[in-house]
Amino acid sequence: MRFLITAGPTREPIDPVRYISNRSSGKMGYAIADAALEAGHDVILISGPVNLAPPSNAKFVSVSTSDEMFDAMHRYADSCDVCVLCAAVADYKPAKASPTKIKKRDERFSLELVRTRDILESLGQQRDRPFLLVGFAAETNDVKENAEAKRRRKKLPLLVANRAQDTLGQDENEVTLLDDAGAHPLPRMDKLALARRLVAEIAARLSVG
Ligand code: CTP
Repeated sequence: MRFLITAGPTREPIDPVRYISNRSSGKMGYAIADAALEAGHDVILISGPVNLAPPSNAKFVSVSTSDEMFDAMHRYADSCDVCVLCAAVADYKPAKASPTKIKKRDERFSLELVRTRDILESLGQQRDRPFLLVGFAAETNDVKENAEAKRRRKKLPLLVANRAQDTLGQDENEVTLLDDAGAHPLPRMDKLALARRLVAEIAARLSVG
């Protein structure tokens, strides 16, 4: 089977030397890529900037902004059996990136931000999509309720929900799988063990469907 996986943060430029980003390490997405390769699947990994070595044997696409990640996903999605969107994509970006370094002036400074495009939602809206779509949800509170609402809004057969404070930058994670049958909590485990579990779960769903 062919896996398309996104990982890591995005960077949204403010000017040539500054950007907006987040604390995502990319560990979960890279672990899923490793686990899929280990299970004999083909992998395309689309990654934002992280301090991790790209897995050997995967096709690796390096991106920086949410727009670059959006374009890369749409380039490869239809040729894949499953899309796993693990990246922490910025929800907002500066309305305009300054072409020159912004100089400090007044005491206060505001930056106008606009919404980025939601990659997961855009794939969810694609009718007759040939791939299984798997999303992640990082919530700080009311994890199951917020995540299930997100799963329905984005029309996802499978969503992996976790607490943002449990996963960002950590080596372990504790998740709940949400699907049409309900919520399935998994025990806390290291990200590679969890990735193997997710890959097995996805492969089982693909072979049934
Ligand atoms: N995602 C995406 N494109 C975006 C934002 C998020 O593809 N512009 C994907 C992430 O990769 C993840 C899922 O959407 O699989 C959920 O991300 P999350 O940040 O938890 O939720 P949001 O949809 O951004 O919702 P909210 O900010 O309301 O929590």
